[in-house]
Amino acid sequence: MIPVNEPLIGEKELEYVAEAIKSGWISSEGQYIKEFEEHFAYYIGRKHGIAVNNGTNALILALRALELPEDSEVIIPSFTIISCAMACIYNNLIPVFLDSEKDTWNIDVSGIEVKITEKTKAIMPVHIYGHPVDMDLISKIARKYELYIVEDFAEAIGSEYKGIKCGNFGDISCVSFYANKVITTGEGGMCLADDGELANKLRRLRNLAFIPEERFIHYELGFNFRMTNIQAAIGLAQTERVDEHVKKKIRVGKIYNELLKPLEEKERIKLPVEKEWAKNTYWMYGIVLNADLRINAETVMKKMAEKGIQTRPFFYPMHLQPAFKKYSWFKKESLPVSENLYKYGFYLPSGLTLTDEQILKIADYVKEVIT
Ligand SMILES: Cc1ncc(COP(=O)(O)O)c(C=O)c1O
Repeated sequence: MIPVNEPLIGEKELEYVAEAIKSGWISSEGQYIKEFEEHFAYYIGRKHGIAVNNGTNALILALRALELPEDSEVIIPSFTIISCAMACIYNNLIPVFLDSEKDTWNIDVSGIEVKITEKTKAIMPVHIYGHPVDMDLISKIARKYELYIVEDFAEAIGSEYKGIKCGNFGDISCVSFYANKVITTGEGGMCLADDGELANKLRRLRNLAFIPEERFIHYELGFNFRMTNIQAAIGLAQTERVDEHVKKKIRVGKIYNELLKPLEEKERIKLPVEKEWAKNTYWMYGIVLNADLRINAETVMKKMAEKGIQTRPFFYPMHLQPAFKKYSWFKKESLPVSENLYKYGFYLPSGLTLTDEQILKIADYVKEVIT
């Protein structure tokens, strides 16, 4: 089976992990936490990095730190991971779901302004599968209506919008280091911010809201979202080779582009795009079947599996999630682009260990199955 993803872990990771264990600092204190936070924040171009135990909790922590009034609305894409909606709900905020753009599969930026009400307090752009969101319009709207931006760049480490790395556009920007991400710590995540006070608040809330001056006196409720020094040791080694990982992702994406272009030209499938203002890192290489083929993603994925190729379905849109049906804020809207993406989209193996031969084989099977 060619796996949909495989992390790339090297000798440096082993060396740093061994050092972390030998040092005795195996929980959330120790040199690697600070070094990883500083290195990763520097790589992205932010002042502060606050490492946490996963990307979902990075989003929860970010929204908590902003202290938005209860029932404030947060604009998020419907086509995303459930973590984005959970982060709103666990903070007593209401997610407002938007449809996707047909080509980038990102939140439809042209539809944001009409969704803004007096209760809107934040926008959460998510750079889907490695392609950046068109951030200029979002930043403009955020300024006009005084909204916070909580940026989710879990799938876009190394991607750029107009030459600026994703992760630079949020008051707080959040990332995941799950094993399938461009760099990994096994489980892990980080919040990035430039504002020192906000960074201190994120640090405090991540650590049970302890304050150093009055140990065990708590003025607010925090979380235990701490990352371990051992995870941070892996993260530091991974950050040191992040450029190599990004290069590999782009190479895989471009080879797929080349090999699958004839299918797109025959209007059988849609491939990922790279807008002229974007650097797409092709975190996961998705394709969308043309509805006229009368074959859905599930069928093709089954056939690919029979050939030994693992694939993954696209996100099931948030506005259709059974878990959200009970909420009174849920409106029965149709968001056709995200619904279409779910029905006809899936992604191909996109891991860091993928060989050219494997990519060739996968592209051949895609062609065979679809034609
Ligand atoms: C866009 C996005 N945000 C957040 C997350 C959640 O990260 P984690 O799995 O580390 O909780 C993921 C998936 O892993 C993701 O793809």
